[in-house]
Amino acid sequence: MRMTSLRLRDFRGYKQVLLTPPEGVTVLVGENGAGKTNLLEAVHLCCVGRSHRTSNDREMIRKDQETAAVQLTVERRDGRHEVGVRLFENARRRKIVYVNGKTAPRMGELMGHATCVIFSPEDLALVKDGPQVRRRFLDMLLSQHQKAYFYALQTYMNALKQRNALLKLGDLRQLPTWDEQLAAAAAPVVRLRRDACQQLNARAAVHYLYIGGREDEPFAMKYCGGLANSEDPAADMLKGLAACREEDVRRQTTCFGPHRDDVDLMLRGEALKAFGSQGQMRTAALSMKLAAFDLLEAAQGEPPLLLLDDVLSELDPDRRRRLIARIGRAQALLTCTDENDFIGARPACVLRVENGELKD
Ligand SMILES: Nc1ncnc2c1ncn2[C@@H]1O[C@H](COP(=O)(O)OP(=O)(O)OP(=O)(O)O)[C@@H](O)[C@H]1O
Ligand SMILES: [Mg+2]
Repeated sequence: MRMTSLRLRDFRGYKQVLLTPPEGVTVLVGENGAGKTNLLEAVHLCCVGRSHRTSNDREMIRKDQETAAVQLTVERRDGRHEVGVRLFENARRRKIVYVNGKTAPRMGELMGHATCVIFSPEDLALVKDGPQVRRRFLDMLLSQHQKAYFYALQTYMNALKQRNALLKLGDLRQLPTWDEQLAAAAAPVVRLRRDACQQLNARAAVHYLYIGGREDEPFAMKYCGGLANSEDPAADMLKGLAACREEDVRRQTTCFGPHRDDVDLMLRGEALKAFGSQGQMRTAALSMKLAAFDLLEAAQGEPPLLLLDDVLSELDPDRRRRLIARIGRAQALLTCTDENDFIGARPACVLRVENGELKD
């Protein structure tokens, strides 16, 4: 897929900007704080409906402005797709998404038109931080992969919220109804996450070997959670909820279900988080992202957009070369602070980013 234009209005530090990148690699060079990551964030927002670095949409609206707008056009094998998002400062106004010039009735309609994978220094959190980060990784990937996943997850999270509200109120009469709903909604979430993890595991292991270059270090990703091995997730979810009922009532929250899922990351059969070196963790995170890239490419028959935020400078020349070889087929936006950082990337275009403006 090829991005033909990215428009921003009152987004972060940008008043108005139009980016029309060519095929291949576009390098964005600029000092710290110049606004490079902001451009990648705007692309991510158009693909997934949210930022990759904040859950507070209002942060992305330019200071003292009421609204921000981003619009992305991509050319795909089946033609042109245009997606857009508008954010509002006023907390009562919900964000609006646009698809091919029309306001979409539901958020999920945005998914799957333009897709991206972002690589950034914060990816290390995939290995180091808690389960929530890995669930979000799966959720972002699967939502872009299939609208159905986004809607299933939305249904599940809504049911969970209702059930937790009842637990807080101590109103247990309606609990069985919500247990049924939660169980029905959990099943597709678990199935799709499990499938994705299997495919990611196979791909990530290959990438790890290729980038890390050591055969004695097999890397593995394993989906885990109360329903990870269940053959009938809806039925087992009901059983799990029943078994945890007392604890739920006591803690006033739902203790069992895919909102507690995790992905175990292992190196040579041991937990990477506990035993891995900094470099091993970095290679693992990179391999996971490359695997996500492969999955989207396979699902769509063309590579997603690639967003590389400051990642080359952190890799030694050998790993850098291997990474570039792996992803050379995609259109990419690559940020760096130093022109020397992208040696080996053979850019099609280099742009300077300076306080809210782009310069050739
Ligand atoms: N809502 C906003 N309104 C105005 N300016 C903002 C807003 N949010 C962020 N900024 C500005 O954007 C800049 C940060 O942009 P960004 O994170 O893209 O920098 P960067 O070029 O990626 O820097 P680094 O090299 O350090 O990663 C800061 O100068 C910040 O003041
Ligand atoms: Mg940055």
